Amino acid sequence: MASSCGLRRSLVVAGAVLLSAGPAVAQAPTADAARAAFSRAVAVLQHPRCTNCHNRGEGPRQGNTPRAHVQNVKRGADGRGEGAQRCTACHRAQNTAGGSIPGAPDWRMPPPGRAGWDGLTPAEICAALKDRERNAGLSPEQVVEHMAKDPLVLWAWEPGGIREKPPLAHADFMALMRSWHEGGAPCPS
Ligand code: HEC
Ligand code: HEC
Repeated sequence: MASSCGLRRSLVVAGAVLLSAGPAVAQAPTADAARAAFSRAVAVLQHPRCTNCHNRGEGPRQGNTPRAHVQNVKRGADGRGEGAQRCTACHRAQNTAGGSIPGAPDWRMPPPGRAGWDGLTPAEICAALKDRERNAGLSPEQVVEHMAKDPLVLWAWEPGGIREKPPLAHADFMALMRSWHEGGAPCPS
């Protein structure tokens, strides 16, 4: 008996030492670290692969140096195009061979007044991401998880043709966005 008690006591002591030893214990990032993570990640949100859809104009844009979309296509009331120029009349569920027409499932852009980030400062993009009027009613966590798996987001890293990829790898971008969320999703000043 005595020896098993002693063993248990020394295991408890060993456990306490392990728990207080530091790296094994996950801690939420500080607000400053979360802001710094957002400031690095925002370069992706400002990249043409995102802003060609996430813009505040009348329609989508195209190219690495954004310009008006072919045939001056308009977004329409639901973001899916106007009249005969529906997005999916041309855009399929994947890029065409060679990449001349980009594609992903349910290709469309945000409806008017939602999720337009072109020309905004990092602080304004941060505020827009958290504004439920402009982000389809998502919590910060849902906003981050959208970026982990949405096909239109993932398309940006397989854009086809001569389109550049965003400036960070998707995994690195997600690690930064998750730090931002875990640190309370603060916005840069
Ligand atoms: C082909 C167009 C398209 C592309 C390209 C695209 N998105 Fe989106 N995105 C959308 C649409 C449509 C929605 C839904 C908007 C809504 O219903 O309000 C959306 C929603 C979002 C949301 C949800 C929150 C919000 O504010 O609406 C995030 C975050 C987001 N996109 C991030 C990105 C990022 C980051 C990229 C680039 C890596 C990207 N998207 C590329 C079309 C696109
Ligand atoms: C008449 C056919 C057609 C229609 C309709 C159309 N597109 Fe396109 N779209 C294209 C072609 C072709 C390209 C490739 C242009 C290029 O890169 O030279 C393109 C490129 C794009 C790009 C550029 C991707 C990038 O980052 O370079 C976006 C974004 C886009 N379309 C969104 C839309 C949206 C949103 C709609 C509906 C509102 C739509 N398109 C309707 C034919 C069309």
